[in-house]
Amino acid sequence: MSHPDLLTRLWPASAVRVRAGDLELRWIDDDTLVELAAVASRGVHAADAMPFEHPWTRGTPEEVARSVLTYQWNLRSQVSPSRFAIEFAVVIDGTPVGVQGLVADDWSVLRRIQTGSWLGSAHQGHGIGTRMRVLALHLIFAGLDAHEATSGAFADNGPSNAVSRRVGYEADGTVNVAREGVAVPHHRYTMSRECWESLRSRHAELLQASVELHGIEGLRGQVAASGSASS
Ligand SMILES: CC(C)(COP(=O)(O)OP(=O)(O)OC[C@H]1O[C@@H](n2cnc3c(N)ncnc32)[C@H](O)[C@@H]1OP(=O)(O)O)[C@@H](O)C(=O)NCCC(=O)NCCS
Repeated sequence: MSHPDLLTRLWPASAVRVRAGDLELRWIDDDTLVELAAVASRGVHAADAMPFEHPWTRGTPEEVARSVLTYQWNLRSQVSPSRFAIEFAVVIDGTPVGVQGLVADDWSVLRRIQTGSWLGSAHQGHGIGTRMRVLALHLIFAGLDAHEATSGAFADNGPSNAVSRRVGYEADGTVNVAREGVAVPHHRYTMSRECWESLRSRHAELLQASVELHGIEGLRGQVAASGSASS
């Protein structure tokens, strides 16, 4: 058995790919991770902004790149029915440009998935963030059969809030979240399965290409509670 086949058998999450046209979300192997670390080291936001609760983008380019490596290496083991945190490389025409993450706590009970994401600065503002969120929602609902998707962004993060609204989430309140020692309003968004189903034609227009899911059955099995079907 070749290494990729063995890895897929041992760790099915590694085989997941979601594609629509030139845009792909795929599991982050080490080669891709190094490319993503380099993308992040070139900048993810303006120096006077901070889109993240944990300010991993502060520091020298090398520190930022290392932070991407250590964060992703730590996440790789977190795929289980009780909790999973899986991040996918956002790849445009074969080039990694950012990350789209999914996190689920008490997955087998709640079937709720929270998303988070970033793109290298050079790749922002061209509609990729909107398309990758729609792809993530396809993976969440059509692929993993979730009941609910959530997202959130600091109130001063115009693009992230705009993506959630355009994709059709419902506003779900605002709470203060600590950011670099200051309490900052953070908007929450939610999308039910019913809402996602009602928005499929809008999402098809945003993607302009049909969605292909690969390797999902294995992932469903990997995060299914023992004794439950992976359907
Ligand atoms: C958030 C992010 C993933 C969005 O991706 P993107 O490719 O830049 O987003 P898109 O181009 O698809 O859409 C951006 C939207 O923001 C809008 N926008 C841009 N700047 C804005 C601003 N200052 N205020 C309000 N809206 C703004 C655009 O008009 C667009 O909305 P529209 O499609 O309705 O016109 C990306 O900008 C990013 O990585 N930012 C830095 C990290 C980050 O914020 N991560 C999310 C943490 S919650």
